[in-house]
Amino acid sequence: MRLKNKKAIVTGAGGGIGSAICFDFAKEGAAVICMDINEESANQTTAKIREDGGKAIAMVGDVSQESAAEDAVKLAVDSFGGLNVLVSNAIMDLEHGPLTEIDAEDWRRVMDVNFNSSFLFSKHAIPEMEKDGGGSIILIASQLGRVARPGRPWYCGAKGGLINMARAIALDHAKQGIRCNTISPGPIETGRYVKNYDNVEHARQNNFTLFDRLGRPDEISPGAVFLASDESSFMTGSDLLIDGGFTAV
Ligand SMILES: NC(=O)c1ccc[n+]([C@@H]2O[C@H](COP(=O)([O-])OP(=O)(O)OC[C@H]3O[C@@H](n4cnc5c(N)ncnc54)[C@H](O)[C@@H]3O)[C@@H](O)[C@H]2O)c1
Repeated sequence: MRLKNKKAIVTGAGGGIGSAICFDFAKEGAAVICMDINEESANQTTAKIREDGGKAIAMVGDVSQESAAEDAVKLAVDSFGGLNVLVSNAIMDLEHGPLTEIDAEDWRRVMDVNFNSSFLFSKHAIPEMEKDGGGSIILIASQLGRVARPGRPWYCGAKGGLINMARAIALDHAKQGIRCNTISPGPIETGRYVKNYDNVEHARQNNFTLFDRLGRPDEISPGAVFLASDESSFMTGSDLLIDGGFTAV
C-alpha cells in the first residue's frame, strides 16, 4: 500500500499505459479518477479496479478543454476529499510526415491534446494539491522528447516541451510541496504503437530497443507508482527514462 491515502487523476486512463497506471495505483491503495475521451475504455478500467476491490471513478472528457480539467479536479475533491497526484498521459496521433505536410489546424489540435492539456490539468490541480499538503505531478513524455525520429515533429515537439515544462513547474511550485517529473517510455506494445504497422509481429520487429522487444505497459506503471509515492520525495524536475535502451545507442 505505497499509495495509501493518495487521490489521483489519470488522463488517457482507458489506454495501454494509462490503464496500467490506474491498476497499479489502485493496487497500491490510491483512489483514482480514470479520465478518458473514450467512455467505454474509461468504464472498463474503472470496472476492473472495482472488481479487484480498488477505488476508482470513471470520467469522460476531452483533455484539451479547460472545463474538463476543472471538472476532473472538482470530481476528485468532491469524491475523495482532495487531490495529490496527477498523471497527464492522454495522447492523440497525426499521420507521420514532415511538418511541411501538416495542416495548421491539425497541428493546433494535436498540441492542444498532447501538450496544452498538461498545462490545463496542472493549472487546476496545483491549488488543490497545495490545500492537501502537496502533491506529485507526472507528465508522460517519451524517449522522443530526447531524440527524434522521422515524421514526428508534432510528437517530438510536444514531448520535448513536456520534459522542460516539468522542470519549470518544479521550480515554481516546490515551496508549495508540489513535485513535477516526467516519465519517458520507450516503445511499448499498446494498440497505438501497433497501429503504425501492418500487424503486431511487424510492430514487434520494429522495436529499436537493446532487448530486441517492445516494452509492456506494466513496465512503465511502476515508475508512475514510484513518482506518485513518498519514496520519490526528493525527486522533482526530473525525467524518468524507461526506454529499453532506445536512446543508449
Ligand atoms: N506506446 C508507446 O510506445 C509510448 C512510447 C512513449 C511514450 N508514450 C506515451 O504514453 C502515453 C500513453 O500512450 P499509449 O501508447 O498508452 O496510448 P493509447 O492510445 O493506448 O492511450 C491513449 C488514451 O488517451 C485517450 N485520449 C485520446 N485523446 C484524448 C482526449 N482528447 N481527451 C482524453 N483522452 C484522450 C485515448 O482514448 C486513449 O485511451 C502517451 O502520452 C504516449 O505519448 C507511449
